[in-house]
Amino acid sequence: MLLLSLVSQWIASKSCSSASCSATSGRLYDPSSSQTTGVTFTLQYLSGTVSGPIVWDQVQIGGYVIPNQALAAATSVDNEPLSYNFDGILGLALPPNSLIQQMIPASTGDAPDGATIASNLFSLTPATNAPSQSFFSLTLARPGFTQIPSLLGIGRHPPEIVPDPSQINYSLLASESVGTLFWKTTIRAITVYVNGQARPIALESLSGAPEPTALLDSGIPLIMTTPTLANGIYGALGISPAADGMYYVPCATPLNMSITLNGQNELPLHPLDLTVEPAGQSNSQYCTGLIQTDPSQLTATSDIGDMILGIPFMRNVYTVMAYQQPNATGYFNTSVQSGTRPMLGLLGLTNATQALEEFNQVRVLKQPLGSGSSQPSSGIQSGGSQLSIGVKILIGLIGFFALCVALFALRCLFARKRWRNTSPVGKVDQGLGQGLEYGAYRRTRSGSRSSA
Ligand SMILES: *[C@@H]1O[C@H](CO)[C@@H](O)[C@H](O)[C@H]1NC(C)=O
Ligand SMILES: *[C@@H]1O[C@H](CO)[C@@H](O)[C@H](O)[C@H]1NC(C)=O
Ligand SMILES: *[C@@H]1O[C@H](CO)[C@@H](O)[C@H](O)[C@H]1NC(C)=O
Ligand SMILES: *[C@@H]1O[C@H](CO)[C@@H](O)[C@H](O)[C@H]1NC(C)=O
Ligand SMILES: *[C@@H]1O[C@H](CO)[C@@H](O)[C@H](O)[C@H]1NC(C)=O
Repeated sequence: MLLLSLVSQWIASKSCSSASCSATSGRLYDPSSSQTTGVTFTLQYLSGTVSGPIVWDQVQIGGYVIPNQALAAATSVDNEPLSYNFDGILGLALPPNSLIQQMIPASTGDAPDGATIASNLFSLTPATNAPSQSFFSLTLARPGFTQIPSLLGIGRHPPEIVPDPSQINYSLLASESVGTLFWKTTIRAITVYVNGQARPIALESLSGAPEPTALLDSGIPLIMTTPTLANGIYGALGISPAADGMYYVPCATPLNMSITLNGQNELPLHPLDLTVEPAGQSNSQYCTGLIQTDPSQLTATSDIGDMILGIPFMRNVYTVMAYQQPNATGYFNTSVQSGTRPMLGLLGLTNATQALEEFNQVRVLKQPLGSGSSQPSSGIQSGGSQLSIGVKILIGLIGFFALCVALFALRCLFARKRWRNTSPVGKVDQGLGQGLEYGAYRRTRSGSRSSA
């Protein structure tokens, strides 16, 4: 029986058989060993479309083997800027959010079905073939820093980053009327610090609830929020939106802020994550804020809520996407049925004092952060490439997102993101998005399959 109710949506690759999808230069998935389901998919992005058949194929990830994983084998990719390093997307959103599972229902037996990758992975039989704990975890590297690599964890915490799993705080997710769609939680506080003084931001939710909601999404290179919250945050620094509706911050001014989510300690955000210099200009006076608004997506009628915590937030935390409740020492015992309610675990990785020093070094003194110049804050002694972390998957997405931000944050966002406003199908792809997924798939293919 599938005890875990997670959903994934997997776009295996894009294969351009015609000149019409020449925008795609990623490596291609070879469907020759796959089994047809007879079902096709079409995904409408805010910009661009992906379509093709849904197939079953063997998927290997982090040493685990799923014999029949339903995945979307894209045959047509229109207007999506995919790079060569891109092999596909591993979606880790929640079950009601799976397009594939909506079309090919999940079953409880071992026959091929539309179950998500998490469901299949965590229920592998015999149980000794499955991860011993039912969670995925994620860290995202910060460009120019070596302490924290980008990692996808499967059922194990990287000890170099999480020496004591009991320090991870867990909370239940905020749900929508149709079920739990996202890794989404409520915001207890947002605080901007100006010269050491705390300026709490007045919280207001689109839904009218006292606390705004925020969902985590590694597929978005920004933090998106409502005009009210963005004005509150930037307003603490005396900044209001520019004529183009975007927020710009003097490059030498640190946005030193923290977010307190339900059940979590105050999580400081690194000021270098929150503003970016214009592409190719290292002496620009104004930097683009990476907290921006998107009134077309964040509306009272959408399920998204008030804030999307993308990469700029996720670089500051160790994120655990758990399909069980942990015991008091943070351990998930998969042989104990502790319910199917997923939990979001977070562990802050950013030391606000050190972060401000680093900001000063990079933006004010204009010095690069040498690998020896900053000490890791969580006991990691060597650079990312030296880490050996068991069943973990190194993710090659930093280049992509760095480029993304450099090109033009918002345009890139719109190209990447997959929201559609109100149709149920459009919700399928929301949630923890593309970021972690490319690399996972790439490793799977190049490490375990000969078809690459
Ligand atoms: C920066 O933010 C932290 C909280 O994350 C706060 O303790 C510290 O005082 C702030 N520093 C300055 C200079 O405002
Ligand atoms: C988070 O976990 C730590 C360590 O277990 C605990 O001291 C702290 O109170 C927790 N924070 C919240 C908000 O529960
Ligand atoms: C949680 O489970 C682990 C592994 O079984 C065990 O070592 C630990 O003692 C348990 N903690 C509690 C508080 O039950
Ligand atoms: C998990 O729980 C079961 C049932 O309580 C117990 O027999 C088993 O030893 C536990 N496993 C671990 C690793 O603690
Ligand atoms: C944070 O960084 C400062 C400056 O590098 C250091 O003095 C302090 O001990 C660090 N705090 C923690 C909790 O590691």
